[in-house]
Amino acid sequence: MMSLVDLLGRPLRSLRVSVTDRCNLRCRYCMPEAEYAWLPREDLLSFEEIRRLVGVFASLGVDKVRLTGGEPLLRHDLAGLVRLLARDARLGDLAMTTNGVLLAGQVEALRDAGLMRVTVSLDTLRADRFTALTRLTTHARVLEGIDAAARVFSTLKLDAVVMRGVNDDEIVPLVEFARERRAEVRFIEYMDVAGATGWSPALVVPRAEILARLEARYGPLDPIGATAWAPADRYRLPDGATVGVIASTTAPFCSTCDRARLTADGMWLTCLYATRGLDLRGPLRAGVAPAGLASLVEAAWRARSDRGAELRAAERERGIYLPAETLRRDVHLEMHTRGG
Ligand code: GTP
Ligand code: 5AD
Ligand code: SF4
Repeated sequence: MMSLVDLLGRPLRSLRVSVTDRCNLRCRYCMPEAEYAWLPREDLLSFEEIRRLVGVFASLGVDKVRLTGGEPLLRHDLAGLVRLLARDARLGDLAMTTNGVLLAGQVEALRDAGLMRVTVSLDTLRADRFTALTRLTTHARVLEGIDAAARVFSTLKLDAVVMRGVNDDEIVPLVEFARERRAEVRFIEYMDVAGATGWSPALVVPRAEILARLEARYGPLDPIGATAWAPADRYRLPDGATVGVIASTTAPFCSTCDRARLTADGMWLTCLYATRGLDLRGPLRAGVAPAGLASLVEAAWRARSDRGAELRAAERERGIYLPAETLRRDVHLEMHTRGG
């Protein structure tokens, strides 16, 4: 099993499981359009189907699972799914990425079910800006969710997508906010993923600039030894607090990418930028046994050569990745369907 690597020598270790394509926010960098089509409800995997597929991936070496959406907490009784997955002792890490709106009331249930870590998206500390960014007025609920998670989970990360002229004056305030909650903030370069139909290079704040702003305030940053398979570069501030930067746009981490994604309807994607995936719902519902499903996945991983973000970075004139008309024809292409 240790020898399952793709064509570029990358192992399969991390699975992001989207449990719904729906979302209760409309972040500009992810869902900027006025209307969206959704996956048909009958196509959504049941919790039991998700458990079986995650078991197949665990049999191939996956030991990190992250629940995502859309917004995962829109899925009824998500803690019930966590409880099912947490029974699988092969999973050393079970985490969730959420927008935080529905988090406050569920933190205890999620922790008790076996969720180990939570990441909350937080792009701004200002309610007016939150509404401009997400089209909703639920900023206070996100902050409550973060406070509740900070009380209950020992590991809490906050993800902030930095956009020039939108929230790039909040880099230091976000560090301070996170520090007060013993959380780690990660600044993410705005990516030209499918769904980001408002993307332009001018809106990207590169890692070098994010670091320069941090150093101007805090003094020299101390890089923390790279965790080879994680997307974030981490740095220690002089007072010991840590921050991360995810430079997927200017310095993609494709060469060490050990992750794949499962959409809520059972499509398996081996790259954030992939335009095609492997349907696992069909064979699962047709009664193919776990070993047969594992063979399908294994063969697809062995043939994998994806390096989507690197190919995008090499484009001479970089514009948006896929136009809205293309996305409307296949919702699987959307970032909110593939789970961020
Ligand atoms: P851990 O490393 O397990 O803490 O989690 P993570 O960083 O994978 O999780 P999170 O959901 O917080 O991801 C942070 C962000 O990194 C995502 O929202 C994306 O913006 C970016 N990202 C995650 N996975 C990929 C990937 O496969 N490729 C690229 N280019 N960016 C990714
Ligand atoms: N650029 C960077 N990050 C993005 N996310 C979604 N769309 C983008 C984008 N265009 C990430 C954010 C969000 C997570 C779910 O997905 O970090 O918090
Ligand atoms: Fe925002 Fe996440 Fe919803 Fe996309 S899926 S609109 S990033 S909260």
